[in-house]
Amino acid sequence: MSERLDLDRLQSLLRTEFAGRSVSYHQSVTSTMEVAKREAEAGAPEGTLVIAEEQTAGRGRMGRSWVSPPGVNLYVTVVLRPTLEQLRYLAVIAPLAVCQAVEETTGLLPRIKWPNDVAIGDKKVCGILVQSELAGDEVQFALAGIGINVNLDASAHEEIAQIATSLRAELGREVSREEVLAATLNHFETLYQALRRGEVVSMAWKHRLDTLGKHVRVESAGGAVEQGVAVDADSDGSLILRRDDGSHVRIEAGEVTLREAGR
Ligand code: BTN
Repeated sequence: MSERLDLDRLQSLLRTEFAGRSVSYHQSVTSTMEVAKREAEAGAPEGTLVIAEEQTAGRGRMGRSWVSPPGVNLYVTVVLRPTLEQLRYLAVIAPLAVCQAVEETTGLLPRIKWPNDVAIGDKKVCGILVQSELAGDEVQFALAGIGINVNLDASAHEEIAQIATSLRAELGREVSREEVLAATLNHFETLYQALRRGEVVSMAWKHRLDTLGKHVRVESAGGAVEQGVAVDADSDGSLILRRDDGSHVRIEAGEVTLREAGR
């Protein structure tokens, strides 16, 4: 396995117009989100890919950290310049693109765990972090951060050993990071272009959503808790819960944690 990503091979596998065509490659960074933010503020074009072999302070959702050892996984952030309307859908198309890419390159069938984790069985293989900078109603830029466990040995990392997996662990062989990344960018751009044309992109997302039909407990960053059966999902990624008293509540994706409540 190569410890360095082969950027020429990556380019040769891309079918995109803009996603991944401008690359900012780093051996080690705190977080690709941080680097991408600086580059976006300095005017980086849409589709700029910030990629690192290692993150020393990889960020997860809800203020958590993201395990980011060198040379085995993908840690990328894509700089985007969507409209406010398109922005709401980035967290829908990013996990969908990863599912499609993993399926295409490995034959595995990952599912989306609401709001935007990608899992194989009950173990997480990819996390997505979308951040944006607004000026009034105008989006200055958005950052789609994607972490994919490609050749990670999750058992070597105590904090995620029970809850994470990798493509290598599932397949029993090494997986090409270049192939997975190129396929992810290819699918992402296709979905993003569809979004720009005003097409509905959420049906395929919903089809992959593993959470529907399950009894779940959702906790927001503010501490509010909702519990019930996930009966449906809206096109913008919101989840519809039927509470135990029969009433329904719509929960927006975002800073929330979901746990299966086990019944
Ligand atoms: C989560 O599931 O909590 C989101 C994890 C997002 C991880 C990726 S790795 C690339 C980018 N840089 C970061 O610091 N985080 C995202």
